[in-house]
Amino acid sequence: MEDISLYMLDLVQNSIAAGATIIEISVIEDVQNDKLILSIKDNGRGMDPQMVKKITDPFYTTRTTRRVGLGLAFAEAAAQACDGGIYISSQPGKGTEVRVEFKYHHIDRPPLGRIDQTIAALVACNPSIEFVYTHIAPGGRLRFDSREVQQRLEGLPIDHPDVVEWIREYIGEGIDEISGGGGV
Ligand SMILES: Nc1ncnc2c1ncn2[C@@H]1O[C@H](COP(=O)(O)OP(=O)(O)O)[C@@H](O)[C@H]1O
Ligand SMILES: [Mg+2]
Repeated sequence: MEDISLYMLDLVQNSIAAGATIIEISVIEDVQNDKLILSIKDNGRGMDPQMVKKITDPFYTTRTTRRVGLGLAFAEAAAQACDGGIYISSQPGKGTEVRVEFKYHHIDRPPLGRIDQTIAALVACNPSIEFVYTHIAPGGRLRFDSREVQQRLEGLPIDHPDVVEWIREYIGEGIDEISGGGGV
């Protein structure tokens, strides 16, 4: 079983490969409706409807190198195993949104995993991409925007190790707070 954070990382790699400059990631813990929703929205090159139909086929890729990621097909299989599913909306030249839904209390629903490390690593490795992370949980809401942080750094690069560590702590502590300290 994989963590939600690993699906997140894999889907964000698709957005980066599609040339996105702004990537909005969100996790919504809608406990009342028994749903956990992971959404990745990008302004990359997008896909036409035929391609959107094809991409949850486990053998489909436009990459020519060996498959290394988990891929959309795996995310779909994980979601379906938890009474959920995957929903893709995309427009060529505009961008893509991939939403992965799980039944929140399903016994096989993956844990969140290390979202703090994942976002911090994404920012550190892609300093010119704007990452917006929103997390809504029963205890509140967390929002992080790498461009807003960059603007407050007065010249210090966002991929400076101290800044990356600050981002990891900010997100980790934020998630703990809104989750009521339940950890991963
Ligand atoms: N956010 C996205 N924007 C544009 N194209 C995408 C996006 N996500 C997936 N794709 C397309 O769908 C294909 C399949 O994605 P995936 O299942 O993750 O496998 P892989 O990344 O290994 O090719 C990609 O090769 C790409 O062409
Ligand atoms: Mg991929």
